[in-house]
Amino acid sequence: MIMLADVKKSYDNEVVLQNFTMTVSKGEFAFITGPSGAGKSTLLKLLYCYEHADSGHIAVDNWIVSQLKIRTVPYFRRSIGVVFQDFKLLCNKTVFENVALALRIHNMEPEEITKRVIAILKEVKMHGKADVYPQYLSGGEQQRVVIARAMVTQPMMLLADEPTGNLDAENTRTIMRLFREINARGTTVLIATHNEDLYFGSGSRVFFLKDHHIEKEIIG
Ligand SMILES: Nc1ncnc2c1ncn2[C@@H]1O[C@H](COP(=O)(O)OP(=O)(O)OP(=O)(O)O)[C@@H](O)[C@H]1O
Ligand SMILES: [Mg+2]
Repeated sequence: MIMLADVKKSYDNEVVLQNFTMTVSKGEFAFITGPSGAGKSTLLKLLYCYEHADSGHIAVDNWIVSQLKIRTVPYFRRSIGVVFQDFKLLCNKTVFENVALALRIHNMEPEEITKRVIAILKEVKMHGKADVYPQYLSGGEQQRVVIARAMVTQPMMLLADEPTGNLDAENTRTIMRLFREINARGTTVLIATHNEDLYFGSGSRVFFLKDHHIEKEIIG
């Protein structure tokens, strides 16, 4: 469950979100769209506790995100997968290690980590480059590794900011199918995108963000 009630968020003197209220149910698959600069990325960052609201109430499952103590934030984040532009792959780690790191903080057995990492890399069709460093990958390949990293822990919530922006049509279909599969296993999925093709015909809720709040909501 994602819940924002009467949230205000500004940067310096610029108001981005105001009287912002939105609820996404547990296990739902939803989209957020709207003009460039409307605040879609900001919304996802608030939910990840990467940005902080000026006022209002934000909750994710049993976590009161708007009141999280700094030392609690890393624990909260363990249950969230993110595909954000600001969270690039680590350049001194291989593809395999970048994805495995997400599991190492969960204290998982090394054999289990290897099994899971290889399986998810196969799903995003990157297992052939497991030992490669990110700088030798194309933009779309890097993005598929980022998506694998976000999904490998089977998080309670997946936040994806323009996840298919630099993917071709076939990889876009593959990734959207993977998002659907992880959602079918219980993960709440929220995707920010400009791409109407992602949500038209999806049967999922689409929130339109404009003038600091949700202007309307449709079924895609
Ligand atoms: N760290 C920041 N410091 C100051 N202003 C910021 C910061 N991040 C975003 N903004 C401003 O907040 C507004 C909303 O930005 P945001 O990135 O959330 O929009 P967006 O809807 O994701 O846009 P896009 O579709 O282009 O990705 C913009 O006017 C932007 O300039
Ligand atoms: Mg954005």
